Amino acid sequence: MRVLEKISEMRDVSRAGNRVGRRLGLVPTMGALHEGHLSLVRAAQAICDVVTVSIFVNPTQFGPQEDFSRYPRSFERDCRLLEAENVDAVFAPSVEEIYPQGSITWIEVAGLSERLDGKSRPGHFRGVATVVAKLFHIVEPGAAFFGQKDAAQLAIIRRMVLDLNFPIEIVGCPIVREPDGLAMSSRNAYLGREERRSARVLSHSLREVENAFHAGENQIGPLMQLGRKTIAADPAVRLDYFEIVRPDTLESAETPAGSLAAVAAFVGTTRLIDNVVLGK
Ligand code: PAJ
Repeated sequence: MRVLEKISEMRDVSRAGNRVGRRLGLVPTMGALHEGHLSLVRAAQAICDVVTVSIFVNPTQFGPQEDFSRYPRSFERDCRLLEAENVDAVFAPSVEEIYPQGSITWIEVAGLSERLDGKSRPGHFRGVATVVAKLFHIVEPGAAFFGQKDAAQLAIIRRMVLDLNFPIEIVGCPIVREPDGLAMSSRNAYLGREERRSARVLSHSLREVENAFHAGENQIGPLMQLGRKTIAADPAVRLDYFEIVRPDTLESAETPAGSLAAVAAFVGTTRLIDNVVLGK
């Protein structure tokens, strides 16, 4: 497995692969890897000849009061995990390598960027879209893999690829969960023991909504109220949003079938997200 820090080295490696007709897969991450990330790697291995994982804690997607400096970093361990998965290359650039002399060019996926997490984290999706576009230009993959866990991010990347004519297939992968339902996340490491217990309420609220939908509730309003009420029942959890939206535009859904029920909540100071697509 090659570990590359420079854009020029990364380009050389992927261009060599592209020249001989290999299908390149890219899995963008911020490291602190867990089974959720590894599921993307396996999905990439299944349909690509060469798999690159990028590890870059992207400063531009963190707000000034957010956790950029204390975001978990475990580079050596990450590399061991990726080596065991037979990953071909790890691209791990420095902040200066990606943002030389303070870049002033941004990718803004208008509208979508201000919904769900974009509403409570202004500028977040601008940072995500910009860094992902940079990674796409540097690695030039044929396919890139993203988790459904970050459903709004996935919608924004899909839209960006469409609007900017990136010749890249975007593959969405299912959410990987802990045995008790909590969606895996690098930020789960912040949770104390009591908080970890409380964190279960996110997936629980989604299950309640899903059950009510399957039992015949066909109105968005009551489903959303049920989700919000379930979160409110745990005083240790502070709701950010519980919304039911269209998975592509992130606008309010008119009917629940095929919609995305998405939740974000603070457990202590840790902000967690989760979602489910309601069956058709
Ligand atoms: P990060 O949070 O490290 O996540 C990297 C990828 O792993 C994302 O596509 C995310 O949706 C996916 N992922 C995380 N937890 C998952 C889970 N439990 N099940 C399935 N997939 C999961 O998302 C980012 O990094 C960044 O915003 C990035 C796209 C790298 C841009 O900086």
